[in-house]
Amino acid sequence: MVDLSVRVGNLDFQNPVLLASGTCGFGRELSEYVDLSKVGGICSKGLTLLPREGNPGCRVAETPSGMLNSVGLQNPGLDKFLEKELPFMNGLGTRVIVNVAGHCTEDYQRMVDKLGAPGMAVDALELNFSCPNVREGCMTIGATEEGVYSMVRAVRGLTDKPLWIKLTPNVTSITATALAAQEAGGDAVVMINTLLGLAINIKTRKPILQNNTGGLSGPAVKPVALRMVQECYRVLSIPIVGVGGIMTSDDVIEFMLAGASAVEIGTASLLHPAACANIVEGLHAYAKDNGIENISSLTGALTLW
Ligand SMILES: Cc1cc2nc3c(=O)[nH]c(=O)nc-3n(C[C@H](O)[C@H](O)[C@H](O)COP(=O)(O)O)c2cc1C
Repeated sequence: MVDLSVRVGNLDFQNPVLLASGTCGFGRELSEYVDLSKVGGICSKGLTLLPREGNPGCRVAETPSGMLNSVGLQNPGLDKFLEKELPFMNGLGTRVIVNVAGHCTEDYQRMVDKLGAPGMAVDALELNFSCPNVREGCMTIGATEEGVYSMVRAVRGLTDKPLWIKLTPNVTSITATALAAQEAGGDAVVMINTLLGLAINIKTRKPILQNNTGGLSGPAVKPVALRMVQECYRVLSIPIVGVGGIMTSDDVIEFMLAGASAVEIGTASLLHPAACANIVEGLHAYAKDNGIENISSLTGALTLW
């Protein structure tokens, strides 16, 4: 028998494979192709208090081994989410994590107050301090230790639900922002969000994305994400959820060895809607073939030279 279950803080998951924010909407489209009760959990699209249409013009560009996006937090807003999308997500038979975004402290406080209320059918809140495609909030908060610390402190007292802090890789020291998240009372860190990038159309001599820059994701970012997970695992006492370029079950194993307790699958779902379910099956086969009884035993098992 193979046990794929993992724990992230006080929350247990049937397996370590979660769907990453912004690459699965609220599960509606993917659920037509894949049984989402097979994954450990689903993270909602980044939500804001009010609806957002996102950025205008071209918002995605393919790059070698990855993609750039500048979606800009298109979402229906908190009220519509609670009315229409959360009930749908709750029917998927998996854990529900809500990705919370905002412009300022009050935005985050109002969102956490409502989504983190006792009885709300949400398993954890993922605080988005890392979206690179909006002018205020998000990545500007995650860019400094002070920003991370003060925003986590500002919301920590408002909910008993687990607060996962989603960090940006666009910093000099990821351990500094991760430690700030921990010290302020975060229950887990999620890393990484996208790396800020640029793609150019050589005919028009303009950026391909109308936002000029966008966030790089996909296999191109995996080594950066792995390095950051590994660095943080060595200094943190709270768990790490690893994300960035995971396409196969072997990638998941690398992330767990580096120190991740669970992982999130992003761009892979855009290439193949059933990627997450295939990855769960691959993990099962790997554990069976290698005599691993509990997949969670892999977390942090990397031996450095
Ligand atoms: C189209 C797109 C939209 C995204 N939207 C969000 C978002 O709303 N909130 C968030 O925290 N991360 C968002 N992300 C980042 C992903 O959740 C993930 O952290 C990143 O893409 C790296 O993982 P990947 O290489 O597996 O895609 C988005 C990524 C993509 C590609």
